[in-house]
Amino acid sequence: MLSFHKMRIEGFASIKYLEFDWGAREMGITIISARNGSGKSKLINALYWALFGDSISGAVGMWEHIRPKEYKGTLVEINFEKDGEEYKIIRCFEYKGKVEGRAGKNGLFFYSGGKLDLGRDKKGVQSRINRLISYSKELFLNTVIFGQKQQRLMDDKSSNKKKFFEEAFEVTIFQDAYTRANNLLSKISGEFNSLQSEEKALKRDIANYKERIEISKNLERSWHKAHKEKIKSMLENIQDLEQELEDSEDSKNDSIWEYEDQLKKLVEERECYKNVEKEYNECQSDISRLRTDISLDEAAIKGCKKHIAVYTKNIETFPDVCGECGRPYTKKDKEKATETFRARIDGFNRDIKAYTLAREQHEKQLLAKIENLSSLNQMKKEYLDLLSKISALENKILEAKKDTKLAESLKSKIEREKEKLIRVKLERYEPEPGTKIEDLQSKLDSFTKKIKVIRKKLVKLQVEINRVNFAKETFSNKGIKPWLFNMLLEQVNSRLEDYENLSGFKVVFWVDMESANGDIRVLVNRYGTEVPYEDLSGGQQQLINLTTIFAINEVVQETKPCGLFIGDELFESLDTTNVEVVANILQDKAQEKNIFLVTHLLDFNIQNSAIVRLENVNGFTTLLS
Ligand SMILES: Nc1ncnc2c1ncn2[C@@H]1O[C@H](COP(=O)(O)OP(=O)(O)OP(=O)(O)O)[C@@H](O)[C@H]1O
Ligand SMILES: [Mg+2]
Repeated sequence: MLSFHKMRIEGFASIKYLEFDWGAREMGITIISARNGSGKSKLINALYWALFGDSISGAVGMWEHIRPKEYKGTLVEINFEKDGEEYKIIRCFEYKGKVEGRAGKNGLFFYSGGKLDLGRDKKGVQSRINRLISYSKELFLNTVIFGQKQQRLMDDKSSNKKKFFEEAFEVTIFQDAYTRANNLLSKISGEFNSLQSEEKALKRDIANYKERIEISKNLERSWHKAHKEKIKSMLENIQDLEQELEDSEDSKNDSIWEYEDQLKKLVEERECYKNVEKEYNECQSDISRLRTDISLDEAAIKGCKKHIAVYTKNIETFPDVCGECGRPYTKKDKEKATETFRARIDGFNRDIKAYTLAREQHEKQLLAKIENLSSLNQMKKEYLDLLSKISALENKILEAKKDTKLAESLKSKIEREKEKLIRVKLERYEPEPGTKIEDLQSKLDSFTKKIKVIRKKLVKLQVEINRVNFAKETFSNKGIKPWLFNMLLEQVNSRLEDYENLSGFKVVFWVDMESANGDIRVLVNRYGTEVPYEDLSGGQQQLINLTTIFAINEVVQETKPCGLFIGDELFESLDTTNVEVVANILQDKAQEKNIFLVTHLLDFNIQNSAIVRLENVNGFTTLLS
């Protein structure tokens, strides 16, 4: 329950200084009556200004030309209570006096339970006041204060009417909720979309990394395959080399010793033929010497024979006379000469014999030598054969020795190949930079982790979007709002029904769902027929306005109970019957709240009401009683 108490006014328009207690009585009607221009409306305006910082009409500060010397500016203090708690507002306008020990200026001082709200931001303090009062200034103006010069609800445009009802029924929260839901939705949708594109990018990254891993795996696989093949071919090569080595060692065993044995024998054999050459040559020279000897022998025999023939002829042809001296030869001479010749022939025959013997011997020797030569020749052949055999064997041994060298080199080659094989076996796959599977996998894992987190977030956000979307739909003009609105309007309509007998008018509000914004329409019905509000008389319109305001007030009171109602010139243009109708209604209401009725009609009275009188004394509002 909201109730107002003491108000202190300083320098507010025509009010120089005035203290007024809106809660002087617990309930009932108080009539504030005074002449025109005495300050009734300013009193109400001071309350409104103190609460909301806004004027219902006219300036707040006092006209300069009437300001007294002691004028310090405007200050209004209002004490009020909400649900048992006490509050106070002091609002200043160009106030030179001090509040809370500092210059009032345009300050707003809000006290809660006697404690000053230290908020520096005036707007913030005001919004805390509004929240506490729980009335906006518009709603306050139409349900707590029903003021003079105020735009009547019924005369107002449909959109204003709607705004008013929205406030009255607190369905602005739906608008707020809708706006909030909408903002939230666009925020979440933004997050959702950016997460979705992140997810897309991650999906691409994941696919890319999977492909890279596959490529790397293939690279590794083919490396291992090639490595295996390399090892296999190296092993085969080693086996081949070992085979080659084995073969060469076999051949060495088979031949080299044998060759060396054979060579040894042949060399020994060669010793036997050591003098063959010499002997052969000697034999040959013997033969040629013997041949010369024989021919010399023959020549000697031939010479001997020639001499014999000459001496024989000499005997036969011995002349009878000396050829030189012409002396005749005697028989003795002849005989002597024949004898000499004969002796000489004999000598030659002996020589022939000797030479023939020599020749025979020479010929014998020659034959023997020739025989010897042929056997020497045979031996020489054999010797040469042996030499060539030796040289062939030596070659073979050389070859075999070569094989041994080959074996040595094969052995070291095998060793080298084996070492190489060990090194190759120890070789490990070294991936190219950026193709290491572990790195790629850990990157892929981090992407997968990320995408999982994102997907979780996306699911959460989707749920949130659905929820917010649902809320948005719910709070939209087509959601719960028109339904609730209609329900509350129904309540107003049902209270208006109570006033129907008193006013003679049936007033029904309804939401035009056909209109784009769900506008509020009103139907006025008199004696069963619909009548346009605009065509009604001023008094009729005022009556309908009042009953509507009362009905709305009653509905609003359900949620925002307020112990005050101020009506400024409510009875304007009402005839006495209608004044009575309204007065009755008010009396009924005054059973549970303080009602202030402001009127310029000095003789206006209602049963059991208190009367407050104001007066304009030299332009300043003065409270009389
Ligand atoms: N800023 C101001 N400074 C001083 N006086 C002002 C100022 N504004 C208006 N006034 C005067 O204050 C007086 C009070 O006006 P107010 O509207 O309260 O009169 P009222 O009692 O409601 O009269 P009515 O019965 O005609 O409605 C008027 O005489 C008005 O001319
Ligand atoms: Mg007035």
